[in-house]
Amino acid sequence: MNIQQTRPPAATPNDLAAYWMPFTANRAFKRAPRMLAGAKDMHYTTTDGRKILDSVAGMWCSNAGHCRDPINEAIARQAATLDYAPPFQFGHPQAFELANRIAALAPEGLDHVFFCNSGSESVDTALKIALAYHAVRGDASRTRLIGRERGYHGVGFGGISVGGMVNNRKMFGSLLTGVDHLPTTYVREKQAFTKGEPEWGAHLADELERIVGIHGASTIAAVIVEPMAGSTGVLVSPKGYLQRLREICDRHGILLIFDEVITGFGRLGYAFAAERYGVTPDIITFAKGITNGAVPMGGALIRGEIYDAFMKGPDHAVELFHGYTYSAHPIACAAGLATLDLYREEKLFERARDLEPQWADAVMSLRNEPNVLDIRTVGITAGIDLAPKDNAPGLRGMEALNNAFHDHDIMVRVAGDTLALTPPLIVSEAQIGEIIEKVARVIRSVA
Ligand SMILES: Cc1ncc(COP(=O)(O)O)c(C=O)c1O
Repeated sequence: MNIQQTRPPAATPNDLAAYWMPFTANRAFKRAPRMLAGAKDMHYTTTDGRKILDSVAGMWCSNAGHCRDPINEAIARQAATLDYAPPFQFGHPQAFELANRIAALAPEGLDHVFFCNSGSESVDTALKIALAYHAVRGDASRTRLIGRERGYHGVGFGGISVGGMVNNRKMFGSLLTGVDHLPTTYVREKQAFTKGEPEWGAHLADELERIVGIHGASTIAAVIVEPMAGSTGVLVSPKGYLQRLREICDRHGILLIFDEVITGFGRLGYAFAAERYGVTPDIITFAKGITNGAVPMGGALIRGEIYDAFMKGPDHAVELFHGYTYSAHPIACAAGLATLDLYREEKLFERARDLEPQWADAVMSLRNEPNVLDIRTVGITAGIDLAPKDNAPGLRGMEALNNAFHDHDIMVRVAGDTLALTPPLIVSEAQIGEIIEKVARVIRSVA
């Protein structure tokens, strides 16, 4: 037979050594690669031609499903028209248009947008703007930042400092100084198998008062939390918790930042989770869903008063010494505009809201599968805690991810021994059934 016909598709590299993969067990991967070659709507295709059901929207990004024509066409058009524009001291129309469109989706008052290229950069941007805001107002003693245990805010030094995941922190030195952490809002004994926001836990916000009591409010710049902590296993804010945090921040002049890198753009049934919870923070970070994952982009939405505080001094002077070569990249902006059009035309945020009860019931049907310790659902998202294997935390989760891909044609995410499900918002009712049936088989395969 002609050798050309027997060779695997071109997307399969023949040497896996050079690429140091991020957040990946490199040696295990390179022994049994999970290699993707294509994607369309709810599915990936593998380099050996199998169709894999995507139950995680890539990585919480592709809310409208994969390889959507309007987004791809907008990217191609933009690349052929204006491939790059320097964002310092120059602009292009799509950047302003996208900022306006994002601000229009945000809670009232959050009316300025600073662009960057990832969730991690959006967090660094938000933290830096918070610190600088206090400084420009002459309140420069406000330098402390407050994060939360089990928080994930990306991998920049700012993000890992306020984040609360030990493995992401412990090898990287002393991090930012002057950072404290609120306790996690997840307590299994009080909240297990909750659909939506747990009843128990609003009082955990009062820990912020305790931290204020230790340091003094006049030293604290900002608090950053995820309205739903995705990367540490879908930890949902208890009822009333975010309101309480807002009240305490207001009482003490502390800025409140919602990290909506995951929850932005429909994941919880609203443009931003801030709307779902009726709580308006001072800054919202976003990334992922803004371009449906098709082009890297992130950003921070900022309250008008914060922006205005910087617009002082001589007109010719730069107001904020921060930005990236690829801030508001024209191709990312074009992808973002096409993505927002698609979300609106297909009413995907509303769709997520309508599907939520059915999704929650479907996922909860897994509660009697072997080793399931807890299931949490919110929006079109679920976390399923599996019992760790003896003396090998994370092994059952890793085996589940691997078996899912190789044996059951479904992509899942894991955080330790927790499975996270967070499909594109175009998921059909039949596909929800298919996800549940496949995940049940995956869970049994690691029993
Ligand atoms: C809440 C949150 N913030 C920040 C990030 C970091 O985003 P990126 O990986 O794009 O830097 C993530 C990534 O999952 C996230 O979930």
